Amino acid sequence: MDPQAVKSDLVLILDFGSQYTHLITRRIRALSVFSLCISGTCPLSSITSLNPKVVILSGGPHSVHSNDSPSFADGFVDWAQSNGVFVLGICYGLQLLVQRLGGEVRVGEKQEYGRMDIAVEKNCGIFGGKKVGDKQVVWMSHGDEAARLPDGFEVVARSQQGAVAAVEDRDRKFYGLQYHPEVTHSPEGMETLRYFLFDVCGVNAGWKMEDVMDEEIEVINNTVAPDDHVICALSGGVDSTVAATLVHKAIGDRLHCVFVDNGLLRYKERERVMETFERDLHLPVTCVDASEQFLSKLKGVVDPEMKRKIIGKEFICIFDAFAHELEQKLGKKPAFLVQGTLYPDVIESCPPPGSGRTHSHTIKSHHNVGGLPKDMKLKLIEPLKLLFKDEVRQLGRILKVPEPFLKRHPFPGPGLAVRVLGDVTEGNALDIVRQVDEIFIQSIKDAGIYDSIWQAFAVFLPVKSVGVQGDQRTHSYVVTLRAVTSQDGMTADWYCFENSFLKEVSQKICNNVRGVNRVTLDITSKPPSTIEWE
Ligand code: XMP
Repeated sequence: MDPQAVKSDLVLILDFGSQYTHLITRRIRALSVFSLCISGTCPLSSITSLNPKVVILSGGPHSVHSNDSPSFADGFVDWAQSNGVFVLGICYGLQLLVQRLGGEVRVGEKQEYGRMDIAVEKNCGIFGGKKVGDKQVVWMSHGDEAARLPDGFEVVARSQQGAVAAVEDRDRKFYGLQYHPEVTHSPEGMETLRYFLFDVCGVNAGWKMEDVMDEEIEVINNTVAPDDHVICALSGGVDSTVAATLVHKAIGDRLHCVFVDNGLLRYKERERVMETFERDLHLPVTCVDASEQFLSKLKGVVDPEMKRKIIGKEFICIFDAFAHELEQKLGKKPAFLVQGTLYPDVIESCPPPGSGRTHSHTIKSHHNVGGLPKDMKLKLIEPLKLLFKDEVRQLGRILKVPEPFLKRHPFPGPGLAVRVLGDVTEGNALDIVRQVDEIFIQSIKDAGIYDSIWQAFAVFLPVKSVGVQGDQRTHSYVVTLRAVTSQDGMTADWYCFENSFLKEVSQKICNNVRGVNRVTLDITSKPPSTIEWE
């Protein structure tokens, strides 16, 4: 997506490392205003080239007094002022603004963390129709405070402890909030952002998913020449499906998708996703059955890292062969590769200053088992790279991707290989885990709780125990059921099922899946555990 082509003013967030920064971006997008987040220490040219109407300086864990505290580029204030750009500092952003404009920030006598009352001290557009003396609850999180404001600034609200809570310099269009309006613990925060953007700054809203789709299609058509071909590896997940559907809408059957059956897919997964691709989305997809190839390479392998490596390598071989076949058929190398990269992946790969994180790609690399050989020299098309997951779902809805598909729980790239502990080829482990998983997921859907769970699945344990079935002693496998709630998969908690649900599902599994005589439930959160087993 070309940020310049968006039919909405841009609100640019300069990120100084607050855990809430991306929430600001999302809140603003929810107001139909286009918002992007870039590093707070980026060069001035990165800001000016985006031509924002408003710049928000985020919070952050630093003190302006420490030597390595991050700051915006020199010339930013002059540029903002001479171009009529509105600037709002939030928490650390406010303190930075105060300090850089010649005011004074000092360690507060009383530090303020958590819920706090603030009272309006002067009428200000940012608080809408609120009168002097009106109070509201906000979420504070700061040790430093603005002790002396720069010339031209006025206090517009104070905390119950007397600390500066909101400031403005109306002439220069500079504003500041000491608290976090973006979090739900500031119940009127969203209203404040709304007043600020629309009433104070006069921002023009127009960020609509329909427009995003049109803009994206235009960008793709300008990028891909009329005789260029594009390839895309579909995983069966939401992101690659929405990305492929969008590119297909733009360039039609010059898009060539491949879906690999690696023998590690869920029950009837191949038939189900191929039906969606072909019947609902009319995507040109080649299904490669490579189960033998994968499973023979995995025979006898028990080490989880090794399994992942083998699977990753095999995927690459298959994509390579697919691209070469295509080249022979078309008489031309495919020029582009579609990837369903999302905005959080982009943000995570360039962490904010002072976050203590370097490139987080290493953490995630084990999740990206796909990919194509580097020597293929394909240029990337990443049409979702400025969107959050729920926005991708919204776009998918417009592109008529069926709703149940959009709401699918995430599924790991290495598939059931990370849900069968030990050798995946041993006995009928894959078959067992497929059947158990199908019963579990179907029961969750029947109970109407699928959408309340972030991810649910069954795990095969290579452990046998004694049981009794039909007056006979059995020596059969143990399976475990895992269901978690989460925001983003980084942390998670186990989902609390009703006892009656567990009773029924366990009975169904033991009565229907041969080779299983014990069902257990995983009741660990992440951390200390992970979501998948392995
Ligand atoms: P963990 O087990 O690390 O998983 O807590 C967090 C989330 O990531 C998914 N996951 C993967 N997704 N390829 C993927 O596409 C992978 O290799 C992979 N491993 C884990 C996991 O299902 C959960 O949603």
